Amino acid sequence: MNRIVVLISGRGSNLGALLDAGLPVVAVFSNRPNVAGLELAQSHGVPTRVIDHRAFDGREAFDGVLADAIDAYTPDLVVLAGFLRVLTGAFVQRFAGRLLNIHPSLLPAFPGLNTHRRALEAGVKIHGCTVHFVTEALDHGPIVAQAAVPVLSGDTESLLAARVLAEEHRILPAAVRWFLEGRLRIEQDAVHLTPPPPLETSPLLNPMPA
Ligand code: GRF
Repeated sequence: MNRIVVLISGRGSNLGALLDAGLPVVAVFSNRPNVAGLELAQSHGVPTRVIDHRAFDGREAFDGVLADAIDAYTPDLVVLAGFLRVLTGAFVQRFAGRLLNIHPSLLPAFPGLNTHRRALEAGVKIHGCTVHFVTEALDHGPIVAQAAVPVLSGDTESLLAARVLAEEHRILPAAVRWFLEGRLRIEQDAVHLTPPPPLETSPLLNPMPA
């Protein structure tokens, strides 16, 4: 039986997508107390724990306690699902190759925060989200899956965020399932899915030429 530990900091809608997909989430940790994602986990009977980063003197101390708490659940995979803390190199190395993150942009564009606002400011016509393995370079590890959405005229940050979030909820459970099925192989910095999915070559054009 596979075991997934999920780290959150807030709302937990990506956690909800994993739970709705029936994936084996065995524990949820949040660095913030009283967030909606904790209640969601509890309503599914999943154990939760708050490890509040503010109670620690520095990142190493926080990450050490978090890593030990995670390891107590002997997970095959750790998923960062809206976990808004930068993790230390020691933490990332400890879970190397079994640590996935969902990021709300088409990496390598717009790493970091406020991705939807920055996409609107940059005037990109296509935006989206990425599931990637976590490495020490922030928002920069091998890419497992991406989904693209059009940026429409009249978009606001929240309209665009909602359009991207719907795609996050599709690609995160898919990527997690592939990992658990042993279908992901990292070669150099590229991730290969075996057996490969059907080739899909239809382009996403935006704006659509008349
Ligand atoms: C998502 O957009 C995720 O990509 C980003 O933070 C947001 C978290 O949303 N890292 P939720 O907590 O999963 O609803």
